[in-house]
Amino acid sequence: MTGTKKLYVKTYGCQMNVYDSERMAEALGADGYEQVDTPEGADMILLNTCHIREKAAEKVYSELGRLKPLREANPDLKIGVAGCVAQAEGEEIMRRQPMVDLVVGPQTYHRLPKMMEALGRGEKALDTDFPEEDKFAHLPKDRRAKRGPTAFLTVQEGCDKFCSFCVVPYTRGAEVSRPVERLLREARDLVERGVREITLLGQNVNAYHGAGPEGGEWGLARLIRTMAAIDGLERIRFTTSHPNDMEDDLIAAHGDCDKLMPYLHLPVQSGSDRILKAMNRKHTAGGYIRLIERIRAARPDLALSGDFIVGFPGETEADFQATLDLVAEVGYASAYSFKYSPRPGTPAAERAQVDPAEADDRLQRLQALITSQQRAAQDAMVGRRVSVLFEKPGRMPGQVVGKSEYLHAVHVQGDADLIGRIAAVDVVESGPNSLAGLLV
Ligand code: SAH
Ligand code: SF4
Ligand code: F3S
Repeated sequence: MTGTKKLYVKTYGCQMNVYDSERMAEALGADGYEQVDTPEGADMILLNTCHIREKAAEKVYSELGRLKPLREANPDLKIGVAGCVAQAEGEEIMRRQPMVDLVVGPQTYHRLPKMMEALGRGEKALDTDFPEEDKFAHLPKDRRAKRGPTAFLTVQEGCDKFCSFCVVPYTRGAEVSRPVERLLREARDLVERGVREITLLGQNVNAYHGAGPEGGEWGLARLIRTMAAIDGLERIRFTTSHPNDMEDDLIAAHGDCDKLMPYLHLPVQSGSDRILKAMNRKHTAGGYIRLIERIRAARPDLALSGDFIVGFPGETEADFQATLDLVAEVGYASAYSFKYSPRPGTPAAERAQVDPAEADDRLQRLQALITSQQRAAQDAMVGRRVSVLFEKPGRMPGQVVGKSEYLHAVHVQGDADLIGRIAAVDVVESGPNSLAGLLV
């Protein structure tokens, strides 16, 4: 018995990284590591990084700078970098920060225990392959972590779409769907551990086409409908979707599958067809709007969210106006907007860039519109009855908080034993970031 070693994991980026961090902690758990909440006193620190925009990627270097004193105080401390920055610039990380002992990409972290052996011998380890084998088949089957009532479950990875601004196809590799049976097993396992809501994850989740139990391929809708039959699982969500993969059955499921929540994240990026073409999105603004109409016909109360990029190379004021018009027409419950960030190795990075001050100005104008829509959508919940899955104690004594079916944070005065349960709540107030309600 060597005693437990302490592992600290810091996660950046998307939900897929959150899921990967859990799986990496489990893989290292089998190796005797126990996860802790602070880097101080840890034996191993793992940064799970994001490469999507320049600011996200730079965070890893500033974080490594902050970790330096810890390493100086404890030369035995191991430092690892995982995730999409590791995949994109692993060797550069090791060059720029010699204190990094380990670099592991998103498709090779099942090899972590093996890599730790190398570290034990005083060597460094770098593995950013895209291996033939399925990493999930080599990870601990038992999702041992103690968990709250919600969980992520990666069903699909990678992306073949190659939007001209995006690094994901390079950092995550080609599109792969996990087999149905393994996903159902993992979902049942999560439910046995108290999970009531599962969010199915993929960079292109609605392009899911996994091997079915009796041969053939299943789409996402069929996977959702089958998962919905699991007793004890109350809610299903999925993210992130591409407009071109919104198959008919998935639209129908929003209307007839009770456990599928009425919230959809469906990024469009721009309202200008000229820019969409330059982005290689392969859809038009009009096509997106017609698609939204069809989904809303299936589920009229659907809360919609999206992503937007402003200042994409070649974007004129008229293109930007088209984006504002689209946002005004669609009406989002929430939306995320980003200033275009040129990413190394992507086609758009080579093009003439929009003036940064102009791009900043557009970002502010778009965010103002989105914020007002978001506010209005949240305020409109006052007086309505929602169902809330309670997740944790609130900030005030006697409070518990959870999420409505529309993904609004809702807090009520109530007992801690509500946590993990779904209850009806009448919304009485709309605050800056959450709704206040009364238990029915
Ligand atoms: N797979 C998802 C999400 C990809 S990344 C999808 O296809 O929608 C999440 C968001 O980051 C994107 O939707 C996009 O709005 C934004 N993004 C991606 N690359 C970017 C870049 N180079 N600059 C600014 N924003 C970017
Ligand atoms: Fe990136 Fe486009 Fe793939 Fe989304 S669909 S991950 S934005 S390349
Ligand atoms: Fe970032 Fe990689 Fe996710 S680049 S958004 S962590 S897929």
